[in-house]
Amino acid sequence: MIYLNGEWMPIDQARIPVLDRGFIFGDGVYEVIPSYSGHPFRLREHLVRLQSSLDGVRIVNPYGLDRWEELVREIVAKNPWEDQGVYLQVTRGVAPRDHAFPKDAKPTVFMMSNPLVTPPQSQREKGVAVVTVADNRWLRCDIKSVSLLANCLLRQAAVDEGAVESVLLRDGMLTEGSASNIFVVRDGVIVTPPKTNFILPGITYDVVIELARANGLPLEIRQVSEAEVRSADELWMTSSTKEVLPISTLDGKPVGHGDNAGKPGPLAARMNQLYQDYKRTVMRAPVKA
Ligand code: PDD
Repeated sequence: MIYLNGEWMPIDQARIPVLDRGFIFGDGVYEVIPSYSGHPFRLREHLVRLQSSLDGVRIVNPYGLDRWEELVREIVAKNPWEDQGVYLQVTRGVAPRDHAFPKDAKPTVFMMSNPLVTPPQSQREKGVAVVTVADNRWLRCDIKSVSLLANCLLRQAAVDEGAVESVLLRDGMLTEGSASNIFVVRDGVIVTPPKTNFILPGITYDVVIELARANGLPLEIRQVSEAEVRSADELWMTSSTKEVLPISTLDGKPVGHGDNAGKPGPLAARMNQLYQDYKRTVMRAPVKA
């Protein structure tokens, strides 16, 4: 079952007018919220980020936080899968094509849920290949916009090279992945770029930082140079669907040094364990009605 503008229906019955500004201009924002055993993960945080994306593109939020929470819990309850990935998007609505905002368009709200696909065990154990690509996106990467053409091109550049993700570099500095945040380990310290307009403020990024702090793992939030990425001891990507996924090769070269070269490092394994444990505590909480 999907949700479209106040109604529940099977996805094949859902229809959007062709003049929806989401279709014409990519004029809208979205969220992807994982749900484990009926528990939407970090739901409030996702909805707070939705609000800042809406503010960033000047769309008035059609619902309050509580209504959104209800809707997300409802879609999870209406769909059969144990673990789900809830996708929701809000566009500026339907209007004759004109770049300037329409005066009276009503935002289009669409929500669907799919089985949550997280990386297979083999990828978690062996790590994955990534390539570096120049980050040529706009300067508001902090907005979770549905205008994802640049991200699609950047991801495809990775796939064309047989890799699973692209690591983006802007002016010699690490930004993030095409659909993930990136963490670097150097000399036992976990390092990741700060939240600026150049990256999406990831919910998983926040969880990883909290877990590092709570467990006394050395952590620095600062700019990371391309040279530091290329000589890292470990690289990981994080996202709601990838969780904490170690990177084993960068542009075809093994990540890390010595015995660990080309293999997930000890801090990746530690963080993965902490993340999985944290998820389990979330799943033990009672499911809200
Ligand atoms: N993408 N950076 C970008 C550009 C992203 O698209 C995403 C997530 C992230 C990680 O954010 P989070 O930890 O909140 O999932 C970082 C989602 C999963 C997607 O577009 O499918």
